[in-house]
Amino acid sequence: MQASDADALFGFRCDKISNQYQGWIPETIDDVRAFIKKQPLAFDIPGTWYQFAILEKETELMIGDLGIHFIDEWQFEIGCTLDKIHQRKGYAIEALLVIMDKLFRDFNKHRAIASIDPRNQASIALVERLGFRKEAHHIESYYANGEWTDDVVYAILKREWTTS
Ligand SMILES: CC(C)(COP(=O)(O)OP(=O)(O)OC[C@H]1O[C@@H](n2cnc3c(N)ncnc32)[C@H](O)[C@@H]1OP(=O)(O)O)[C@@H](O)C(=O)NCCC(=O)NCCS
Repeated sequence: MQASDADALFGFRCDKISNQYQGWIPETIDDVRAFIKKQPLAFDIPGTWYQFAILEKETELMIGDLGIHFIDEWQFEIGCTLDKIHQRKGYAIEALLVIMDKLFRDFNKHRAIASIDPRNQASIALVERLGFRKEAHHIESYYANGEWTDDVVYAILKREWTTS
């Protein structure tokens, strides 16, 4: 993701309804500029989120973002957002299959997780489709958008990915 992606990112990330289960909803374009500016300069640094822009092949327009949180040397977390007009076209699956395959095979990662609000049915369908298993349901463990919310944790191991 680059500084020039700020307008597009703001365009779909500021939608409070489509992003109602997200922890971060930017109020202004400056919030988005600051978000892009603080991205790490390199991939695969423990303790950082690395953000990809998802581009539509035909138009090369940014239609979504895909974040990888490198938890430690061996484990990563995923987060994905598609512009609502581009949802349910298989784009999130397509983007995640490529990136996760690279992380498990080429970067030899051991485990991936996703942390999801249990009301977020689209996200749950997405990770289950990728082969993640539900590992935990934490009750009111996360304060977001003015309320304490539950958090479900999904995970998949490298050995499960290779057979899925
Ligand atoms: C979650 C999200 C990224 C999914 O992106 P997407 O491009 O629409 O997903 P895909 O089209 O690749 O679909 C993936 C699978 O999830 C299913 N799915 C997607 N949206 C769904 C919905 N609203 N309800 C039920 N299933 C849904 C699809 O049917 C597909 O499964 P299938 O192949 O077995 O049919 C998208 O809904 C989104 O951006 N939501 C808002 C942001 C957000 O909450 N992100 C999650 C943060 S953890």
